[in-house]
Amino acid sequence: LSTVSIEGAAEVLRIPATEEHVLRHDRAGEIGLDGGSLTLADGRIAALDSRPHADLHVDASGCAVLPGLVDCHTHLPFCGWRAEEYAQKVAGTSYEEIARSGGGIAASARALAGASDDAVIAQARGLATEMLQHGTTTLECKSGYGLSVDGELRALALAERLDREVPQTVVSTALLAHAVPPGFTADEWMDAVAGMMDAVADRDAWALDIYVESVAFGLEHLERMGALAQDYGLALRAHVEQFSTMRSVPVALAAGARSVDHLACLHPDDVAPLAAADCAAVLLPGAELLGDERVAPARALADAGAICVLATDCNPGTSPVVSLPVVVGLAVRRYGWTVSEALLACTQSAAWVLGLAHDLGALDPGKRADVVLLDSPVSHLPYRFGRNPAALVLVGGEVAWVRPDQAWRLRRR
Ligand code: NIG
Ligand code: FE
Repeated sequence: LSTVSIEGAAEVLRIPATEEHVLRHDRAGEIGLDGGSLTLADGRIAALDSRPHADLHVDASGCAVLPGLVDCHTHLPFCGWRAEEYAQKVAGTSYEEIARSGGGIAASARALAGASDDAVIAQARGLATEMLQHGTTTLECKSGYGLSVDGELRALALAERLDREVPQTVVSTALLAHAVPPGFTADEWMDAVAGMMDAVADRDAWALDIYVESVAFGLEHLERMGALAQDYGLALRAHVEQFSTMRSVPVALAAGARSVDHLACLHPDDVAPLAAADCAAVLLPGAELLGDERVAPARALADAGAICVLATDCNPGTSPVVSLPVVVGLAVRRYGWTVSEALLACTQSAAWVLGLAHDLGALDPGKRADVVLLDSPVSHLPYRFGRNPAALVLVGGEVAWVRPDQAWRLRRR
């Protein structure tokens, strides 16, 4: 492992330290963006200054230096795409109608079941590479397209294989209740989930997840998933309030959820309790835009002091999006957030959701040397919407991606 000296950046994102390694969004104004330098050594952030004798010197003039981006909500690994459904949605067919007529999650489950492990991994590795090139150094995987006991366990095993095959840190979530599998009622499937938990515990999943919606599972199933998470020492996450207001959030909070994700249809009365809880609001503006969903009350959540998080929700149905820079741009425009708020939401706060904030997600000495260099100030992220400004990406102190036109910034000893 080598020493890297990143020198003379125009901006360095500095998140104030807290004991819990998470900054509630009403304090995002305290984030610093002064210029400076950074030294990485032995895979860790060593100092907030430069070193005259390093193995690698990086000319960061004109650049913004950020912690590596953390995408804490993706549905990798999946198989194939569903572009035809997007055309149907644009023409006015709802996600629910598509799901009820055999499309949606069930279609992706059939594709996954029919594909070899190697084919699934090849697609997932390609997507992880695209994510890396957009600055993502940690990503979450979810099962959920297995839709059978063996299928879900296979998806978890594939996520572990992806972790071994890509430079990023991969955290896996067992989304064991995503759609009710054919031949089961929701209650019967939850019995099957309870029965497979010993096998799930042998995989290295960090959380359980459930999709609460009219076309999926109900509040009683959320409660039951919460009890299973507690019994097995796993975190609880939940897809809630995406297409309809089901008042899932009070139930999720009572069940001790680590995050509630989507929230486009969050009830106004649920903003304050969520903001006060040790539970993150994971917002997915790519899914909101492409699904023509409602817009989550993100400004209100941030002002109320919630732990606010952004992610791509990368999946073949609602959000075939890999780029956190795009998600940041959407959040700034559609949520009325500052760029610092948006960046906090896909760095330290996202790491907190994955239980990693003590180790990564901020440029603090001692933390993992996961670092992204943008070729422009952070203000350009939302402003030059759709453009990828990631110039150099370091994972664990090693260069994992350098954009070809930016190679001149690197000088090796
Ligand atoms: O996060 N809403 C449920 N799950 C995914 C969509 C999965 C799919 O359509 O394939 C989501 O939006
Ligand atoms: Fe999702």
